[in-house]
Amino acid sequence: MTDFASVDYFSDQSVSQDPYDYWDYLRAQGPVVREPHHGVVAVVGYQEVLAAFKDHDSFSAVNAIGGPFPPLPFEPRGDDITDQIEAHRHLFPIHEHLVVMDPPAHTRARSLLTKLLTPKRLKENEDFMWQLVDSQIDQFIGNGRCEFLAEYAKPFATSAIIDLLGVPEEDRPDFLAALGVEQRYGTQVGALDGAPVGRDPLQYLDDKFAGYLADRRREPRNDVLSSMATATYPDGSTPELIEVVKPATFLFAAGQETVTKLLSAAVQTLADRPEFQQQLREDPKRIPTFIEEALRMHAPTKVDFRLVRKTTTLGDMRLPAGTIVMLCLGAANRDPRKFENPHEFRLDRKNVREHLSFGRGIHSCAGAPLARVEGQITVRRLLDRMADIRIDDTMHGPAGDRRYAYEPTFLLRGLTELHLEFTASAPDNAG
Ligand code: HEM
Repeated sequence: MTDFASVDYFSDQSVSQDPYDYWDYLRAQGPVVREPHHGVVAVVGYQEVLAAFKDHDSFSAVNAIGGPFPPLPFEPRGDDITDQIEAHRHLFPIHEHLVVMDPPAHTRARSLLTKLLTPKRLKENEDFMWQLVDSQIDQFIGNGRCEFLAEYAKPFATSAIIDLLGVPEEDRPDFLAALGVEQRYGTQVGALDGAPVGRDPLQYLDDKFAGYLADRRREPRNDVLSSMATATYPDGSTPELIEVVKPATFLFAAGQETVTKLLSAAVQTLADRPEFQQQLREDPKRIPTFIEEALRMHAPTKVDFRLVRKTTTLGDMRLPAGTIVMLCLGAANRDPRKFENPHEFRLDRKNVREHLSFGRGIHSCAGAPLARVEGQITVRRLLDRMADIRIDDTMHGPAGDRRYAYEPTFLLRGLTELHLEFTASAPDNAG
């Protein structure tokens, strides 16, 4: 039995494997609780997380990813530390990316992204995904088993973003290799946070996109990269090249790991609960709800951080400027004041779309429509092409006593591996 009173959320291995009991323990003390090891204020109540997301005047996103790491590069003074944040912004991790920007810089950067993620582009990307899903499944359908992350989720999520950004066909194999995804199935060699030997993936992406966009600025063509290269700010001014490159490359960091985690959580549930396979086969219109419930139950981004910019109050707690706040999305999604029987996976949950897995407010996930479609298409085609989907008992233990390993990080929640067995459906068997 874990002694939650002494647990350090940021380093405790058992809590990284299962944060939900710990969050229930915190919630029993209130929706906003001070964590003892790093002085971080944890927000586990739904209403309180929502309120913090919406109040971007009191809460800065400058530390959204790292939270208390590294420590603040200044000693907060007074009830409004806006000037201190701005003077030290360049010292915060990934300060050049929009997820940690505050208005007005955030507003400008986000406007460029909105021009990239148009409904037309998303529709074309969706069409591509319908082909992608089948070519990915073709790789392993004949084997009757697969390791779902390496053989499906990671290459699928990466290829979807490569296509979204309009990377030319001939360069795609090189992108996959640089991002640690071999094109042949089953040979995952790394990920964005585990660079393949000799290449820094983020630097590689920056260099490639800078090259493409400079090229398209000189000579626009009729392609996605040209629309990005010629996008302007709302006031009509042209961004510096790097101001377009950064939002583009950030999509890989934001959308690869998170989507992999969503897909594996959804398919794990499907394989563990045959009744859902049956219900969704009978009524595929329920697949979007299934994906929303997977997002609610297994928030891939477990927590998100803010820095109190102006002294304020959240729940009943006064938060002096300079306080580091941890918004526990996975906990808010299971707040019993908001979701009835919150630890239960239910297909008939009326308010399921109100989960906070994509954040809210000005920073709400720009890739949410894409992530949702990736989940829906994956579940749809797996159900079509597999007569049944089972967890591999030899790898994860028998039903009722499963062993799953999750990545040991405080930020994201996701399986390290998911071993499946399945029977191919009739057309694949015949083929
Ligand atoms: C299930 C998959 C995903 C989850 C759970 C997720 C979650 C999130 C969350 C919680 C935020 C808010 C961060 C904050 O407020 O501090 C966010 C922001 C963002 N996400 Fe996602 N995301 C997912 C997929 C994607 C995909 C596929 C893309 C793009 C292709 C993407 C692009 C972004 C971007 C650009 C932002 C920053 C928006 C801003 O700061 O204005 N995400 N995401």
